[in-house]
Amino acid sequence: MEYPKMVTVDRVEDEAAGIKNIFFKHDLQAKPGQFVMAWLPDMDEKPFAVGFQTAEEFGLTVSAVGPFSNTFSQVKPGDRVGIRGPYGTGYKLEGKKLVMVGGGYGTASLALLADHALQQGCEITFIVGARSKDLLVYTERIKQMGCTLITTTNDGSEGMQGFTTDALEKLLSEQTVDKVFSCGPEKMLLKVAEVCNGKVSCEVSLERYMKCGFGICGHCCVDPIGIRLCVEGPVVPGETALKITELGNYHRVQSSRKETL
Ligand SMILES: Cc1cc2nc3c(=O)[nH]c(=O)nc-3n(C[C@H](O)[C@H](O)[C@H](O)COP(=O)(O)OP(=O)(O)OC[C@H]3O[C@@H](n4cnc5c(N)ncnc54)[C@H](O)[C@@H]3O)c2cc1C
Ligand code: FES
Repeated sequence: MEYPKMVTVDRVEDEAAGIKNIFFKHDLQAKPGQFVMAWLPDMDEKPFAVGFQTAEEFGLTVSAVGPFSNTFSQVKPGDRVGIRGPYGTGYKLEGKKLVMVGGGYGTASLALLADHALQQGCEITFIVGARSKDLLVYTERIKQMGCTLITTTNDGSEGMQGFTTDALEKLLSEQTVDKVFSCGPEKMLLKVAEVCNGKVSCEVSLERYMKCGFGICGHCCVDPIGIRLCVEGPVVPGETALKITELGNYHRVQSSRKETL
């Protein structure tokens, strides 16, 4: 059993409406795609993907949607947070011509992957989508890194009107791509896996309620194949994602009760 290591909040930056980046001075040594369990004493412990990382610090992106994430979003420099990990699989970099498809805070772990891929000479098209312009994240970071950026919004307030997967289908019909990586809302990930199936290799990063985070409690097992998303995931090949029949249909809450999506 690994106990949480207490790390100190160094700074907090606003990313978009309700979304913050929280930085800690700590050499985490995570692979892009891995996550940490973040513990707020007297509150709870929840998984968060690593979105930023250098030898001196790492950062998490928190979208305030419920009790834990609202409290986490309000931490201030000097506050202490418990961290376990990094845990889980990372993305596997293969090929040179890559496409990243990010939705919401899921874009963070892909931006970290893009950082690594660019250092290895890869060419990256980054599709970022949101419901509206004010919810788009990391667009400046992605442009500054040197990726080709395509934005999509459901309401057409910025970029192409529609879904990230519309932009992905268009791109795949026009260009040859070596691999697609995706992280974001579950229905988007399923569609990405379907669009890529049989055409191009892809990996998607999935989410399920996690308790232990390292494979012993079984809470993050998915039907019907039973893999533990904290160990055999969260990043899985697209073909594996397509075998998980609960994706897009239901997930299990803290008590293990099924909740329809
Ligand atoms: C591997 C992994 C990586 C993760 N990485 C991140 C991350 O980088 N940043 C981050 O903010 N969260 C991330 N999460 C989710 C995070 O662990 C929490 O589940 C999330 O913060 C909500 O917890 P909560 O207690 O605040 O809200 P809950 O009480 O769990 O949820 C409150 C309400 O919001 C809804 N809800 C929950 N999650 C979302 C969502 N993503 N979008 C919209 N509605 C939602 C719930 O259905 C519920 O109705 C990750 C989860 C996993 C498994
Ligand atoms: S969270 Fe316990 S096995 Fe995955």
